[in-house]
Amino acid sequence: MGILEWAISPLGQNVPIHIAWFLIWVAVIAGMAFLVVHAVYMRYFAGEKEFAGGATPAQAAQLPKRVPRHSLAARLFHWIMAAAMFTLLFTAFLPRVGVQFDWVTYHWIAGVVLTLSILFHIVHATFYMDFWSIWPDRADLEDARRRVQRFLGRTAALPRKFAKYPLENKLYHGAILLTGLAVVVTGVCMMWRVRTLFFPRNPYLFSDLTWGLMYVLHGLAGVSLITLVIVHVYFAVRPEKLPITASMIVGSMSREFYVQEHDPQRWVVEPVLDPEQGMADGD
Ligand code: HEM
Repeated sequence: MGILEWAISPLGQNVPIHIAWFLIWVAVIAGMAFLVVHAVYMRYFAGEKEFAGGATPAQAAQLPKRVPRHSLAARLFHWIMAAAMFTLLFTAFLPRVGVQFDWVTYHWIAGVVLTLSILFHIVHATFYMDFWSIWPDRADLEDARRRVQRFLGRTAALPRKFAKYPLENKLYHGAILLTGLAVVVTGVCMMWRVRTLFFPRNPYLFSDLTWGLMYVLHGLAGVSLITLVIVHVYFAVRPEKLPITASMIVGSMSREFYVQEHDPQRWVVEPVLDPEQGMADGD
């Protein structure tokens, strides 16, 4: 049982046509397995988180009561992208597991919404947000090394508190970026295979082999997104992460949560004159 399905092209070539659909279940099971292993680890084995540094009481007292985290534009992007992503996953995979409906039109429309929202996000993140906040830096790698050493029972300095995004979030963003770009670039090309509002259908745009490889890449990135979305939703609903999830709705988090998890030198929040009132807009 291979991971691809093959067919003979009109020229007699053996070409891949798409992924084998059992990979949908592999992706679902991988996501569920991660969830169970992580939940058991957190419940029975993980100790209290220990950090070095962080805000002093004097610094904390100057912070706004609600620390701004996501601007309205960033939150709108997130929820529009999430709606498009769920629509894409359900329209793509439900028909493969026996729920038949006319999925293609809903699928490419959601694909266009996802593509436009990602283009918006690239411009917004490059020119209006702190672009580097989502990329791993030297301190992340050094702290990850310290955490692994301490987990293995070796002596190592305490890791620092996080910048705006912990290393795990940055790595997740990298994985979503690669899989997201793969489905978008292949998906836009695949729109020439179906009838859309934008251009006449042209299934001869690429050779059979190129089309086949494109469908395979689209499918592989697509099933990877099943696992990534399961993992993302799992973390979003974990009790200790709820303040972060809530900040994606209301835009801010409490001063106490910020002080507990974040290093004010790595994620700078402007002090305010009246900490009980002030709240600027986030990135
Ligand atoms: C979460 C993201 C996405 C997932 C999981 C996904 C999944 C899939 C799957 C499994 C197929 C069937 C491929 C096959 O038969 O081998 C497909 C087809 C297709 N997708 Fe996506 N896709 C995603 C994003 C996109 C995007 C962003 C676009 C457009 C910009 C798009 C446009 C298309 C088109 C036009 C087809 C071809 C339908 C056909 O040939 O009948 N997809 N997608």
